[in-house]
Amino acid sequence: MFAQPTGSSPPGSFWAASGQNVRSARKKPKSREKPKLRLPNKTRRYGPGRRVSGKRRSPSDAKRKALNFAREYAGSFTEVLETGRCGIFVGKPGTGKTHLAVAVGLHAMRAGHAVLFSTVMRAIRRVKDSWSRDSRETETQAVAGLVFPDLLILDEVGVQFGSETERLILFDVLNERYEKRKPTLLLSNLNIDEVKGFLGERIFDRLREDGGRAVVFDWESHRGRS
Ligand SMILES: Nc1ncnc2c1ncn2[C@@H]1O[C@H](COP(=O)(O)OP(=O)(O)OP(=O)(O)O)[C@@H](O)[C@H]1O
Ligand SMILES: [Mg+2]
Repeated sequence: MFAQPTGSSPPGSFWAASGQNVRSARKKPKSREKPKLRLPNKTRRYGPGRRVSGKRRSPSDAKRKALNFAREYAGSFTEVLETGRCGIFVGKPGTGKTHLAVAVGLHAMRAGHAVLFSTVMRAIRRVKDSWSRDSRETETQAVAGLVFPDLLILDEVGVQFGSETERLILFDVLNERYEKRKPTLLLSNLNIDEVKGFLGERIFDRLREDGGRAVVFDWESHRGRS
């Protein structure tokens, strides 16, 4: 995608399943074998198997920083789990925040960790839905479902209105994760000051603890490129 992996990790290890090198794991089909049916990956926007065509571009420093953050975060996820180190991806639409966060999540999943990806809106709706009489889960269970994963990726921070109730739900979830030292990745189109304003000083401060970092995605959108 961007640059060759750096540091001590073996080439290709970030994208490989369970530390196995993808290239070496790929078999050449025997010439007499029927080619395998390949279904277009239409149902899923993010995830394994998606290939992007087009020219290779030399990555900017900011892109390199974002990729290095993701590689380091995913590559040392055991340590991330010990401290509960969080990350915030901020930037314009289409710059690959979700793309990169999903890659981190997949890497953690392949290492056996529980990962949940949700938009903030869906997470809040889950908790709010539990208030209805015919709900299958209680509010405690709904919150626990968001606190339980080893890694929670919360996308679209700041898209919703942000009523007092919504802020309280978000505070509840993020604070409980903080107390349990569970890492969270937050993604937003807001700038970092706006994210701070949206989440509130107390949560923002918690996210920064133990080396939590903001990563700025400030390049042009990947959408519409072919
Ligand atoms: N580094 C990349 N190389 C090629 N394609 C990419 C790259 N990063 C992202 N894309 C593709 O570009 C599109 C936009 O990426 P993505 O949805 O992750 O952006 P985003 O920053 O989350 O946007 P938004 O803020 O609107 O949610 C997706 O189809 C994604 O697969
Ligand atoms: Mg996104």
